[in-house]
Amino acid sequence: MATYPLRVVEKSIEAEDAASLYFDVPQDLKGAFSYRPGQFLTVETENEGEAIARQYSLSSTPGTHQRLRITVKKIEGGVVSPWLVDRASEGDLIEVQIPRGRFFKDINEPTHVVMLAAGSGIAPILSIGRWLLENDAGHKVTLVYGNRTPDTVILADEVENVAEKFADRCVVQHIMSRANGNWDGERGRIDREFVTKHFPEWDDRSDDLPMIFYMCGPEGFMDAAESALQQFGVPLKSIHRESFDMILEDDGDEPGLEVLGADSPGELGATTKIVAVVGGEEYEADWAEGEDILAALLRVDADVPFSCQEGTCSSCISKLTEGNIAVRPGVLQTLRQEDLDEGLTLACLSQPKSKSIRIDFDEI
Ligand SMILES: Cc1cc2nc3c(=O)[nH]c(=O)nc-3n(C[C@H](O)[C@H](O)[C@H](O)COP(=O)(O)OP(=O)(O)OC[C@H]3O[C@@H](n4cnc5c(N)ncnc54)[C@H](O)[C@@H]3O)c2cc1C
Ligand code: FES
Repeated sequence: MATYPLRVVEKSIEAEDAASLYFDVPQDLKGAFSYRPGQFLTVETENEGEAIARQYSLSSTPGTHQRLRITVKKIEGGVVSPWLVDRASEGDLIEVQIPRGRFFKDINEPTHVVMLAAGSGIAPILSIGRWLLENDAGHKVTLVYGNRTPDTVILADEVENVAEKFADRCVVQHIMSRANGNWDGERGRIDREFVTKHFPEWDDRSDDLPMIFYMCGPEGFMDAAESALQQFGVPLKSIHRESFDMILEDDGDEPGLEVLGADSPGELGATTKIVAVVGGEEYEADWAEGEDILAALLRVDADVPFSCQEGTCSSCISKLTEGNIAVRPGVLQTLRQEDLDEGLTLACLSQPKSKSIRIDFDEI
């Protein structure tokens, strides 16, 4: 997908191994770079002659911050994060794709939004939480933020400022796994036990608001939190999660899940056509047996967004508007059944199941 060079206009160190980069968006790109809270930028660069791409959630909040901000935690031995944290500096131009992702879904009634973040998972969580509070629609926010020690807390000042500014509607609770004796707050991790202990107080709000949950961080913590929430009867559709480090489980020979578009134009055959809409343009590819939709589109140089090609980054999220497809069951680690019911899919895990399909990468 097309990338745009954005200039780093400020860099701030967030903790010993994390930094925020602020980008100015030129006037002519403002429309393309408008974003919803919780969306991410895909940063592209080269490593040993190979193009590589990584996703970074926008930690800034649309409507509140003028500039785009990503907040990166350095992964030892990693390729891109050490470059961004240690070496990228003010004045650099960095190639990025336009914002993508569907972590945040509109909330239609006043709601108690409980947000669980671990480490750099705070980036999209803060963007969403702040957006909900700034655009006062009667929501309340409980933010639970887990870190190792107080000096590893990323975006600590902004979390504090948000808590103070919206003290009547926002509660922030820190939890540290390895704090020394001076820490008098909660100790441990956001795990099953923690959620089981705190759920009654999240639920016990006199205002009787419905609750939904957002979580972001390592898969293990989100699995544990999700299963504890389900024990309290929280339905999966009220739990939204974004993973930074997911590895798609082998879904082997399990049958594909069906996604249906508006029309059903005939049986799959040798002449199956894929039409994709990307950036307002249409691309057409003939499908070759066994190929996923993304591969077919890349073969004809369609300007489709992608990165991991294995269902984990959600860059290739798209909407089926005509025809039928089958998608590998592993998609349910990234999307929910309700997303599939809306026609959403990941092009890198999907194959056509009708004579023609139309898939839209803009309408997500
Ligand atoms: C939708 C999305 C949003 C993201 N948003 C953010 C963000 O806001 N901030 C942020 O810091 N990161 C974020 N990430 C993670 C980011 O895209 C990179 O995966 C991460 O920075 C590692 O990239 P790297 O090139 O440094 O390491 P790589 O070269 O990709 O990996 C090097 C080694 O580290 C391991 N590794 C990779 N990621 C992790 C991890 N998270 N924890 C532990 N080990 C790991 C790999 O398995 C590999 O062995 C996001 C990822 C996704 C999919
Ligand atoms: S390219 Fe990453 S999910 Fe499809």
